[in-house]
Amino acid sequence: MSQALPTGGRISAPHLADLLGCWRDGPNRAQSADLAAALRLLVLEGRLPAGTRLPAERELAQALNLSRTTVTAMLDRLREQDLIASRRGAGSWITLPGKEFGPQGFTSLPEDETINLAQATPAAPAELAAAVDAARLRLPGYLSGPGYAPMGLPVLRERIAERYTRRGLPTGPDQVMITSGAQHALALALRLLVMPGQRVLLENPTYPNAVDGIRAAHAQPVPVAMAPDGWDLPGIEATLRQVAPRLAYLIPDFQNPTGLRLSTQGREQLAAALRRTRTLALVDETLAELDLDGDPVDGPPPLAAFAEGLVLTAGSASKMLWGGLRLGWLRGPVELIRQLAGVRASIDLGSSVLDQLVLTELLTDPEPLLARRRAHFATARDVLVDALRARLPAWTVRRPAGGLSLWCELDGPISTRLAAAAINHGLHLVPGPRFGVNGGLERWLRLSFAQEPAVLTEAANRLARAAATLTGATDDLLAVT
Ligand SMILES: Cc1ncc(COP(=O)(O)O)c(C=O)c1O
Repeated sequence: MSQALPTGGRISAPHLADLLGCWRDGPNRAQSADLAAALRLLVLEGRLPAGTRLPAERELAQALNLSRTTVTAMLDRLREQDLIASRRGAGSWITLPGKEFGPQGFTSLPEDETINLAQATPAAPAELAAAVDAARLRLPGYLSGPGYAPMGLPVLRERIAERYTRRGLPTGPDQVMITSGAQHALALALRLLVMPGQRVLLENPTYPNAVDGIRAAHAQPVPVAMAPDGWDLPGIEATLRQVAPRLAYLIPDFQNPTGLRLSTQGREQLAAALRRTRTLALVDETLAELDLDGDPVDGPPPLAAFAEGLVLTAGSASKMLWGGLRLGWLRGPVELIRQLAGVRASIDLGSSVLDQLVLTELLTDPEPLLARRRAHFATARDVLVDALRARLPAWTVRRPAGGLSLWCELDGPISTRLAAAAINHGLHLVPGPRFGVNGGLERWLRLSFAQEPAVLTEAANRLARAAATLTGATDDLLAVT
């Protein structure tokens, strides 16, 4: 074999077994095929990066409670698909996937027509091009300076502050710093506020990259289960008291992945619990502008309005406008914002001036644009909900009031197997366990509706076909979910 040796890390057999989740498609089927499909899914999602060395066959067989022959057959399959390479004495490793993979490890849409319901990230609005032109004309006003602004451009901070004030949270520009997206904002906040070993409370299910960020900061995630229709506020308060986390990471507005929104009364209760336990909250408002049944200005005020001083809010341009701008922000007490800007010096020194000018243009009179986008996504949501209810009547498909995805309850613990099967039907899914702080959630599937309605109708057809290929055999799986 002419493959170069891998440069990636090694994954342990128990960890790989955890990541694989419920991959079995019943005791009597070709288990090596099911296992290969589940492992392929992990590669597609980027959860097993290229170069990762796989455990020895014997260890993997033991961790998965399988015969070594099954594991060998699985590796043979993956080798045939060019997903792994092996060398005697060096074992097997994930190879750099070929052209079918996009930059994030997802199969790219235009080339192979796979539909991606895994990513809840919309295309840019048509207005973006005009905003770029206008920003270009403003750029000369900035060219004589250094271009570094750790807090962000004052004019953009003003726009963001105005938006918070309109939503019922009076805010000055000195309470806002611009970041390179909400994910960057979370990383900055974790860097400043959380020491290794400290605990961070979060909702379960939740946004997986936040969990990864918390783990990367060597902090300990403490999940509190969401109730079927919202937040278990007594459970959150009891955990705040008993575990005394350093931080609570919360998504009260169109929670990712459930799509739920915390009511005004719930916000009052949650804020009171934060005050009583003197806990700082990091509130992720990435989806807050995507109120699909109304105007967010008329919705419940931001959580910070109920616990000013204890809440640091992260926001983003990615969902309401475009992820490619890579812009977000943090809003909080002036002193805390200054400290966060200080932390930034060791990371990236500031966000792109030109992109900030583009966002400033888009936020100068944002109402018509935002209203049109909300209406567009509401239509997309309804198309997908209706198609799923018609094609998969045994599933429970709720219509969320906002956000960009549906959180569907399946008719069995099949999420991982379904995502693996869907690849063969030209559909990229992210299975429910990805949203569980410690896995689980095999009965759940998050489906993004950030696509054109016609694509969503076709996606529902493909999903129904993929689901039909799964044989019953769920009884033995119940034991492991
Ligand atoms: C809840 C939540 N927070 C943060 C992010 C990341 O946003 P950004 O693109 O601004 O980094 C996402 C993106 O999916 C998200 O859903």
